Amino acid sequence: MDVIEAIHHRHSNAKVKQDAIPREAIETLLSAAVQAPNHYKVRPWRFIVLTGNGLDKLGEVFVASFADRQPDLPAEALDKTRALPHRAPLIIAVGVDQPAEPKVLEIENIVAVSAACQNLLLAAEAEGLAVKWRTGEWALDAKVKEFLGFAPDQHLIAFLYIGYPELVPEAQPRPSFEDRTVWME
Ligand SMILES: Cc1cc2nc3c(=O)[nH]c(=O)nc-3n(C[C@H](O)[C@H](O)[C@H](O)COP(=O)(O)O)c2cc1C
Repeated sequence: MDVIEAIHHRHSNAKVKQDAIPREAIETLLSAAVQAPNHYKVRPWRFIVLTGNGLDKLGEVFVASFADRQPDLPAEALDKTRALPHRAPLIIAVGVDQPAEPKVLEIENIVAVSAACQNLLLAAEAEGLAVKWRTGEWALDAKVKEFLGFAPDQHLIAFLYIGYPELVPEAQPRPSFEDRTVWME
């Protein structure tokens, strides 16, 4: 698949099958991710690959955190929360290293890891995989970060929910670049 075609064809898709994704395909995505540009070659990305029991454990951490914040939740609410990671057979959680030296800027590490995420999304498109990028309250949660092995000050910028598409939603045309662009000639 041509890269321009992949960029235009890619859309968030949360409707995925539970079929396992071969390790080779997951490695193809990760390898694409780390081709991203990054200032000072600090490779600020961290990927936590969750499948099977990993998703179960993440669900338990979601529940523990939710119950901390809102005690006396009904069992159904906790069950719903526990099941959240199983919306796909694979989650890749993506973290950002904090700069280890003054010349490295936090914002530049974040944008480099964002570029890595986009590479991963495009590789998934080429591999026939669907991805839904999620963040929400869980990406800011101290317990979740700890479980994933991230320091409290590390940014957790994505939970990439990945699977083979159950159905492919009709592509919605995106707004053009025109109103966001100034040409200085
Ligand atoms: C940093 C970031 C965080 C996101 N977090 C969420 C989220 O928590 N929940 C969600 O439904 N979509 C989330 N999205 C997906 C966007 O909603 C989606 O990309 C947007 O609607 C455009 O749709 P498209 O991906 O099909 O182009 C996130 C996207 C980015 C880049």
